Amino acid sequence: MTTGSAGFDLAKLLADRGGERYELHTRHLNHQLPRMLRTLGFDKVYERAEGAYFYDAEGNDYLDMLAGFGVMGLGRHHPVVRQALHDVLDAQLADLTRFDCQPLPGLLAERLLSYAPGLDRVFFGNSGTEAVETALKFARYATGRPRVLYCDHAFHGLTTGSLSVNGEDGFRDGFAPLLPDTAVPLGDLGALERELKRGDVAALVVEPIQGKGVHESPPGYLRAAGELLHKHGALLIADEVQTGLGRTGDFFAYQHEEGVDPDLVCVAKSLSGGYVPVGATLGKDWIFKKVYSSMDRVLVHSASFGSNAQAMAAGLATLAVMDDERITENARHVGDLLRKRLGALVDKYELLHAVRGRGLMIGIEFGKPRSLGLRSRWTMLQAARKGLFAQMVVVPLLQRHRILTQVSGDHLEVIKLIPPLVVGEAEVERFVTAFEQVMDDAHAGGGLMWEFGRTLVKQAVAHR
Ligand SMILES: Cc1ncc(COP(=O)(O)O)c(C=O)c1O
Repeated sequence: MTTGSAGFDLAKLLADRGGERYELHTRHLNHQLPRMLRTLGFDKVYERAEGAYFYDAEGNDYLDMLAGFGVMGLGRHHPVVRQALHDVLDAQLADLTRFDCQPLPGLLAERLLSYAPGLDRVFFGNSGTEAVETALKFARYATGRPRVLYCDHAFHGLTTGSLSVNGEDGFRDGFAPLLPDTAVPLGDLGALERELKRGDVAALVVEPIQGKGVHESPPGYLRAAGELLHKHGALLIADEVQTGLGRTGDFFAYQHEEGVDPDLVCVAKSLSGGYVPVGATLGKDWIFKKVYSSMDRVLVHSASFGSNAQAMAAGLATLAVMDDERITENARHVGDLLRKRLGALVDKYELLHAVRGRGLMIGIEFGKPRSLGLRSRWTMLQAARKGLFAQMVVVPLLQRHRILTQVSGDHLEVIKLIPPLVVGEAEVERFVTAFEQVMDDAHAGGGLMWEFGRTLVKQAVAHR
């Protein structure tokens, strides 16, 4: 093993010990990840990546329909972002002195705010969950109220504050007590108003399109919810960590409809350019003025790595690419095409029940088939564990067609597609062709696919 800074050679380290990746992970990190990957046959060795593709040592290409959980909005190693990072390192800036004002954070804030009329200031942190934590703190402080509302099935990150507004017991169980926050059904204005009337609500935090299951908020809901919240002196927090930066065919998903007026907007993932972790909380002037109300409070909310030059440079380069390459328009156009092609298959395949979403955030939902033979197989899977059929589709998509996708949440028969926003018609063609072949196999009722389903059932039963 290489030791000492003079002897540090990254390429050599990787060449010497890269082959130990799965063993190292098993020994020193979350050991369930390699276990899960081996079970699914996902324990690949990817050597390099570019755009919407990874490559293994044999040079086989794998189409990425997951974008690192949405981080790779521009695809991997976009040359403009890479160059910006080389440049910022070479500039040797006096970064993070903490007692000066660097230019890059101001420039990135100015640029981000130009996409969000009505919002005036930005706090930079380091991740999506930190962007949400900031919004929760700011909303509580600015309103002087303790309780935050969130939607059933919501996902806003996994640190303790964000976990308090998580709509899934699977994530929350065992971590109590959390903050005394309250869930309301997405789209239910009556439930929202009932909670608001209690007078202790600081905010509603909402994903304009929920990541789990890919559920859009109903038309008009965000605008009406914002109006209700404001009437009761509470705030609307739009969590755009996944939906923001063009993903859904608008720069921010809340902008899909006129008149939605969020007080705080959370951003992360794609703003990193796929390289440098970053989170941003955009908000109204009065909220920031209240939180930072005096010189004594200048550090009342801060982060040691927040606004670091690499993250800011990656963010600025990302936004420049988004404009230059019309990334949001591409997401809208290619997303429409992909949804249309997939939607046309709903009548063809009885196991395929719905295709939904906006832009390049697409949910493919499976459900109970009509024919008897398939129904008994489906029932066998459901009895063991919900979500196994979707897993049965994800596995051959990778194994046989070299396409990476994910099931959109525990116990859900939904696959979520969130590819890099630079995909085009070639990737749509490749995905739809592969998906049709997998669906053909599933509907043929026999063969390897259902064999694998039986293996999953055995494992699910064994782990109860
Ligand atoms: C809507 C939403 N909010 C917050 C987060 C948390 O982001 P991070 O994983 O960067 O903490 C996620 C992550 O998937 C998300 O989808």
